[in-house]
Amino acid sequence: MKRIVFLTGAGMSAESGISTFRDSDGLWEHYRVEEICTHEAWQRTPEKLLDFYNMLRRKYMNCKPNRGHELIASLQDQFEVQVITQNLDNLHEQAGAKHVLHLHGEMMKCRGEQNENVTYPLDPANPDIHIGDKDPYGYQLRPHIVFFGEGVPNITPATELMRTADIVVVIGTSLNVYPAAGLLSYAPMGVKIYAIDPKDIQNPYGQPFTHIKKGASEGMKELVEMLRS
Ligand code: APR
Repeated sequence: MKRIVFLTGAGMSAESGISTFRDSDGLWEHYRVEEICTHEAWQRTPEKLLDFYNMLRRKYMNCKPNRGHELIASLQDQFEVQVITQNLDNLHEQAGAKHVLHLHGEMMKCRGEQNENVTYPLDPANPDIHIGDKDPYGYQLRPHIVFFGEGVPNITPATELMRTADIVVVIGTSLNVYPAAGLLSYAPMGVKIYAIDPKDIQNPYGQPFTHIKKGASEGMKELVEMLRS
């Protein structure tokens, strides 16, 4: 089976009602990254970050996968489908994708401040994290999210997946944030690359790619037709 590696970003979930970051009206137009998404902010004002992510988590919990997520999962009958996502939502999993690697963490998981490798699922019935909530080792719980200024542990397995791709599909990411955007540089020479995004995007590594200039659902419909023909 050929391996398709999908690299997805916020635009993948836009049609599910989740805001992107850098589009007009995106999340970073309303909030300052330095106040809610950096390692320093967590150390300075953890209660503010907990409140913010508690609010965002509840929004995410109302969202459902869109046709684009479903079409990616549908390709699993004919391809080995591997998703590498920058998204914190679990909409790929909800749509049935079996192999999903989260680069920037997962909204429905938490972890202690001191041990990034041990995560705990949050209870959908009671999903908020509060100051004073501790892990079994006595450390304050925090969202399982990679803040700016922190390491990206899953970049190593993601690099390996990219190196072995037969087809690469980039969906809904402005390719502004590293190391995620750098993954494209590991795509094998000559591999077919597709990008699905309604806006013009730049490939920082210059490999030629086929741009399907549409949203995730319509774009995936077109891609599936191409891949299956
Ligand atoms: N379908 C597909 N793509 C879309 C859609 C849609 N319906 N709507 C918007 N887009 C595209 C935009 O044109 C843009 O290229 O999605 C992309 C979103 O880019 P960003 O907002 O920069 O999101 P992303 O690339 O995922 O950001 C990367 O930055 O701050 C962070 O940690 C956060 O994981 C995130 C990282």
